[in-house]
Amino acid sequence: MLSNIVDVLADPVDLTRLRGEDGFSRLVSESGHSYDVARQGYVSLVGGKGLNHGGDSLEMVRSREAFLAQGYFAPFVEAVTDAVGDVIERSAAQVDDPVVLEVGAGTGYYLAHTLDSIDGARGVGLDISVPAAKHLAKSHPRTGAVVADVWERIPLRDASVHAITVVFAPRNPEEFRRVLVDGGEAVILTADQGHLDELREPLGILGVEEGKLERMLEQAKGHLEPVADAELIEFPMQLEREAIAAQVGMSPSARHLDPATLAERVAALPERLEVTARAQLIRMRKAGEA
Ligand SMILES: C[S@@+](CC[C@H](N)C(=O)[O-])C[C@H]1O[C@@H](n2cnc3c(N)ncnc32)[C@H](O)[C@@H]1O
Repeated sequence: MLSNIVDVLADPVDLTRLRGEDGFSRLVSESGHSYDVARQGYVSLVGGKGLNHGGDSLEMVRSREAFLAQGYFAPFVEAVTDAVGDVIERSAAQVDDPVVLEVGAGTGYYLAHTLDSIDGARGVGLDISVPAAKHLAKSHPRTGAVVADVWERIPLRDASVHAITVVFAPRNPEEFRRVLVDGGEAVILTADQGHLDELREPLGILGVEEGKLERMLEQAKGHLEPVADAELIEFPMQLEREAIAAQVGMSPSARHLDPATLAERVAALPERLEVTARAQLIRMRKAGEA
């Protein structure tokens, strides 16, 4: 619910504080800007430039929900939750209600799992996609859903977030540094070469480009630095055709492939296929903080 997290939200125009008005039907900033809370419980905190793309479509969000609900990515979810638990436990700023920001939070599946494992933790689920935000708003009672573009100024107060999670989603190291408390960390899970490799050729889907992690570390320089080496998380999944269709439907490949062609290619696969899941988990703190 937004009322749980309003104290950390900020006006996207000038970063002043927001408060709920008219029974939390809108948020109003100290500088007088007003942002309507949607009927479904999320708020769009978008500055002057507006959004220049919509993120995941409703179909992609539905595919994501269907796939994740089967638990295929459980080792990824556990790894992210464990890392956030560790950050919060070790954080110098011991508080009863730490704030976890998930960027590109999608359906809120990862954030809900993390909040369930940390007593009192509050979640900000940020996504550029309105269909995703609608899911996020009901994903966990301690999650507040915000539509915003992570490439712009993040609509959160300076030093208000104890941990940031990013799972297969875009990052903004400069803004992450601004919103993190001292001792806070960003926990980033990024697909590694070999992820879903068995599906690449038969379905004609996009592969993970080489050197992705290294490029990310390079881009973060001066803002964030790794706490330790990245951890490789790799496991096999036994996927039936339906799960494969959902997996592809929630990935960027969904935008490049015509649905009929994809359906034909999925139908030509064996009934069940072993598919590799492979990603790197990296924890990053503010640069120069060690
Ligand atoms: C591959 S999905 C991952 C979703 C979720 N983290 C998960 O793993 O289930 C990427 C998400 O990032 C969102 N996204 C893409 N560009 C974004 C941006 N510029 N700002 C915020 N969210 C963005 C998409 O709408 C989508 O929900």
